[in-house]
Amino acid sequence: MSFPTLACPIVLAPMAGGPSTPALAAAVANAGGLAGLGFAYASAERIAADLTATRALTAGPLNANFFVFRPVTPPDHEETRRASAALAALPGLQDLEYTAPIPPFFPDLGAQLEPVWRLRPEVLTFHFGLPPPGVIERAHSLQISVGVTATRVSEGRAIAAAHADFIVAQGMEAGGHCGVFAPGEPGDWLPVRELVRALAKVTDLPLVAAGGLMGGADIRSVLDAGAEAAQLGTAFLATTESGASAAHKRYLLEQGGRGTTLTRAFSGRHARGIRNTFIERMVGAEVLAFPLQNTLTTTLRKSAIERDDGEFQSLWAGAHYDRCRGGSARELVRRLLVELDVA
Ligand SMILES: Cc1cc2nc3c(=O)[nH]c(=O)nc-3n(C[C@H](O)[C@H](O)[C@H](O)COP(=O)(O)O)c2cc1C
Repeated sequence: MSFPTLACPIVLAPMAGGPSTPALAAAVANAGGLAGLGFAYASAERIAADLTATRALTAGPLNANFFVFRPVTPPDHEETRRASAALAALPGLQDLEYTAPIPPFFPDLGAQLEPVWRLRPEVLTFHFGLPPPGVIERAHSLQISVGVTATRVSEGRAIAAAHADFIVAQGMEAGGHCGVFAPGEPGDWLPVRELVRALAKVTDLPLVAAGGLMGGADIRSVLDAGAEAAQLGTAFLATTESGASAAHKRYLLEQGGRGTTLTRAFSGRHARGIRNTFIERMVGAEVLAFPLQNTLTTTLRKSAIERDDGEFQSLWAGAHYDRCRGGSARELVRRLLVELDVA
């Protein structure tokens, strides 16, 4: 297997937790790109429904994306109490109730992959590490191409050794979760162009560059650095077809001066988002391990979305989100291709 041949070198980043929708995926796949659907926390039923709905809208290539969760040690009572107390102390949110996470702490990947084996999207990708033994082989037996995120050269080497078909080279500008294999500090995370060049020196696998790519010139620059295609997440977040919340889209389009930062406070793993009150107030606070902190903050995030309050939801965004454009995803791809000079 190899990376699929695309009519245009644009990959829609899979974006779990709301932004990924069948309409967004279809808009990119119909324009000749590779469309991502982020299924990190989704049930097998949801995955089957979204793959089927997307397939009804496009015959183009689809990528089903999953997180590789690591076993977690359940937190003791005192850790959970301190982490809940940190949330309860946030201004204006004293009435929310926080329930301690209980097992199973994350979805079973085997069950999540069942609809993939049945519905056979062209591509399967993993974030936070290599999938369990046998998964890549099974995908290949069904003609499904497999990609894995790398944030550093050592991860790229491991991905090549596991016989994956391509590497998503995620640079430090990227919005959302840092895909580093080992949870902890992202450490020596390179900017996207440097990462692509460094990976190209150690592997022949096709590289898909991700992180801070907002326009045609950005795409051209990573292709010139050696990437096969460019994966864009933030650029598509504020489009009509994106399922990002209303506040998320508003902040992307209207609050360009805030800037982004990495935080563990929403989920327990480092992720890049627009600076807001939650991130600022949680600096130094007790945070549970991933994904327990994600479970613990669910009430807070859902309530903020219902109240249309951008200060207490995760506004994942790449370092260059101030160049976000609204309008339809279809139109955005068209403009990107004009900028790339291949339209
Ligand atoms: C809102 C959002 C959600 C994301 N969710 C996922 C995900 O579920 N799986 C994944 O592999 N990457 C995810 N990412 C990271 C993207 O794959 C990609 O690395 C990133 O979007 C590239 O940087 P950019 O946002 O500046 O384009 C997400 C990014 C954003 C912005």
